[in-house]
Order: sequence, then structure tokens, then C-alpha cells
Amino acid sequence: MSIHNDVTIAILAAGLGTRMKSRRAKVLHSAGGRTLMEHSVRTALSLAAPERVFAVVGHQAENVRQNVASYGIRFINQEEQKGTGHAILCGRNELASLGGMLLVFYGDCPLILPSTLESLIERHRSSSAAATMITTRLEEPTGYGRVVRNPAGALQSIVEQKAASPDQLKVREINAGIYCFRSELFWRYVDLLTANNPAGEYYLTDMISILIEHGHPVQAITLDDSAELLGINNRIELAAADRVLRARKVRQLLLDGVTIEKPETVTVDDQVLVGMDTVIGPFAQLRGNTVIGENCRIGACSIIEDSELADEVEIGPFTIVGTSKLERGVHAGPYARLRMGNHLAEDVHIGNFVELKKATLGAGTKAGHLAYLGDAIVGEGTNIGAGAITCNFDGVSKHQTKVGNHAFIGSNSTLVAPLEIASNSYVAAGSVITHNVPEQALALGRSRQVNKEGYAKKLARVKKSPA
Ligand code: UD1
Ligand code: MG
Repeated sequence: MSIHNDVTIAILAAGLGTRMKSRRAKVLHSAGGRTLMEHSVRTALSLAAPERVFAVVGHQAENVRQNVASYGIRFINQEEQKGTGHAILCGRNELASLGGMLLVFYGDCPLILPSTLESLIERHRSSSAAATMITTRLEEPTGYGRVVRNPAGALQSIVEQKAASPDQLKVREINAGIYCFRSELFWRYVDLLTANNPAGEYYLTDMISILIEHGHPVQAITLDDSAELLGINNRIELAAADRVLRARKVRQLLLDGVTIEKPETVTVDDQVLVGMDTVIGPFAQLRGNTVIGENCRIGACSIIEDSELADEVEIGPFTIVGTSKLERGVHAGPYARLRMGNHLAEDVHIGNFVELKKATLGAGTKAGHLAYLGDAIVGEGTNIGAGAITCNFDGVSKHQTKVGNHAFIGSNSTLVAPLEIASNSYVAAGSVITHNVPEQALALGRSRQVNKEGYAKKLARVKKSPA
């Protein structure tokens, strides 16, 4: 793929997307872990420099801009959405002087491959056509613009679903909504667009017949494989696009040396990176900006989001990890929840039903079962017993718990923050610890056990059948 200096790209993304039945603009819906808008912008940027990529925005313009602000592209405002032709017209000031080719596609077609647009550009460049468009044949063309050809097979026009005659509705060749125009000719004739149609919109698709009627040849590339041309208009199509993008991502990971068990069940966002020889179990989900090292194991049904896992990390099944950093050799789960903001040093072991929130754990520290560590800093080689919890919230504010190196926190301890437990100390099981514990100390924070001799016999007298 290369960047073409003579190509200007316009992505149309101003529409509401009524058929989505949503309060959110259509292009802000996600498939494969990115918004439709982001998919379009990234595809455009594989072919043209950011200063020649324009997005036409209108509905929820500010949100759409923000969604792709980091890509450095330019924007055109379409205040009122009067159709795909009108959308381009709104950019006359920015676009008309740029010359070269004008490549237009819609922000609701997230599956188009850059290589397809590359061949569209090359095909257009090597011809004398005024425009080159992409078409395909569909079993079920309902909703798409139909491609009308004369008996000799030459392109004549595109008719929209609403305006098509019964005969035209039978046409299975459809307009994909991707066009390459010779910029100079496009702007020479664009004012001939009218809103003379059932929708009362300025249709970009009418440019095809306008150019042809004025003696300028238009050609079409007809793709055999229509899968990448899916236009998203409702949530059924959104789900279909999501499925395709997920399958593409999983396939790429497999090719890159990641083992995936039951790949069709796994959900991996586009931006996720996974190292070689890592094994991903069935139904795992890897989301957001997650980076996973080599030789890791991600257990079945685990969800990892916006997290960084070094090499050799093992995540047991049904474990949830959010915004956390796990160093080499960490073992977490099954059934653990590393909620957010955690940093686990090398070889930390987190077992079942342990919850961590903003916890920093030193190398080799273990919390094997049923614990809660929130707002905690724990040193190296410390053992957190089953059922131990930090009481980090007093009803008003959060407080921190600090535990040193090689400490032993007995089972079912209640650590009331703010609290410091120094290195090499012991907390006896079942203690409620409210005061700091010095180095080498044993802290006991529980009532002493009393054994009442013979008491069971006394009880038996009042019971019907003694145990
Ligand atoms: C359009 C094409 C149709 C094609 C189909 C392919 C037209 C008139 N029809 O129909 O031939 O088969 O795409 O998917 O072009 N938009 C604006 N401003 C507007 C109207 C739309 O920016 O005023 C944007 C929308 O945000 C959307 C894109 O243009 O991203 C396409 O609009 P949409 O309403 O989805 O057109 P279709 O009915 O799908
Ligand atoms: Mg559409």
C-alpha cells in the first residue's frame, strides 16, 4: 500500500442513521472494537496523507470529530443532511481546488480493504474514465442503489431503492458507494445534481448518469466477493460486520503464531497485540489497548481489557482483568477479578475469588483465595491468607494499606486502612487490625478463645436428642 499524493479522500459521515434506532450517530457505533468512523479513517490513511483526508460530519459532529481527532484528518461540516451529493457539495471550498482524484466512500462501510481501494485508484489512473465505481452482485440487493446498464452492458445510471421501477428492483448488481472521480470533471458538473427524487435528497449517485450524459465515460469494477462491501444501516448489519472483523483479527493472530482454541468463539479487538506461542482459550475476550506477551495462557471465558501482560503470564479461566499491568510469570485466576489500576510484579500469584483494585503487589507475593485488596501496596514475598480484606473505605474517603516484604497476613484478617504493616511481621488469622504493625511483630487483633468445660452436657439436657 502506498500514499498517493494526487488522491483526495472524502468520507461521508454526517447522517444520523435512522435505521440504527439509536440516539448515537451511526458512525459512532462499533464493530470489531473500533467505531465505524475509525475503520473508515484508518482505511483512508493507508492511501492518502492526513491533510488530503476529509470527513463530512453533521449529525453529532463534535462527537464524531473527537472520535477520530488523533488521526489529524480534516473535517467538512454538513449542517443539514440533504443527501450524499449535498454532503460533498458542502466541501467545495476545501476540495474543488485540490485536483487529481477525488475518492469518495461512506463512513458506514467498515469492511472495505485498503487493497480494494488501491486497485480502484490504479484502475482509474490507467483509464481515461471520468469516474470509476465499485459494484457487486447480491442475492438480496434490497436497500442498495441498483446499477442500470444498457442492453450492451454499458453503465447508464444508479437508481436508489425508493426510485426504482419494479424491473430495476430485480437488478442484483448494486452500487457499493465507493467512487473515484476525476476531480476537475466532478466539480465542473456537480451543480447539475437536483433533489428530484422520492427522498428529496441530492444523490451523489446521480453524478454517474450526469457524467455519462455529458459524454464522459464511467467504468465499474465489479467485485465477485461482496463480503467487504457491506454497508451498515441497521444493527443486523452491524452484527454481521462485527463478526467479519473478529474473524479477520483472529485469523491474523493465528497466522502470527498465536494458538486459539475454538477461534470462532474468541473476541479480540482490532488494536490488541498478542505475542508468539500464547494460547487463548475458548470464549476469551481481549479488548481495548491490550498487549499480551509471548508464551502466555489466557483461560477460557476470561476478559482482559486495556491491560499489559508480559511474557509467561497465565490467566486462569473466568478471570477479569481491567487496566492492569502484569509482569512476567504472574498467575491469576481462575475466577479472579483484577478490577483496575493494578500492578503485579513478577511471579505474583492471585487465586480464585480474589479481587484487586489499585493494588501494587511485589514479586512473588501470593493471595491464593477469597481476598480483597483495594488501594494497597504490598511488598515482595508476602502471603495474603484466604478471606483477608483491606477495609479501604470509611464511608467518606478511600485510604491506603501498606504491607512490607515477606509478611504473613493470616486468613480472614480485616486490615482497616489507613494502615502500615511492616516487613517480616505476622498478622494472626481472624484479626481486625486497626493500628500499624512494626517489623518482626505478631499482631493479634481478636478475642481470646474460651473453652467452657462440660458445657455441652448442660446444653444436652434442654435438647430433645443430644448430638
Ligand atoms: C447509499 C447509496 C446507495 C448505495 C449504498 C451503499 C446514495 C444516494 N445511495 O445508500 O446507492 O448502494 O449507499 O452502502 O448515495 N451521509 C451524509 N450526509 C447526508 C446523507 C448521508 O454524510 O446528507 C452519509 C451517511 O452518514 C452514511 C453515508 O453517507 O455514512 C451513506 O448514507 P446512507 O443513508 O447510509 O445511504 P444508503 O441508503 O446506504
Ligand atoms: Mg448506508
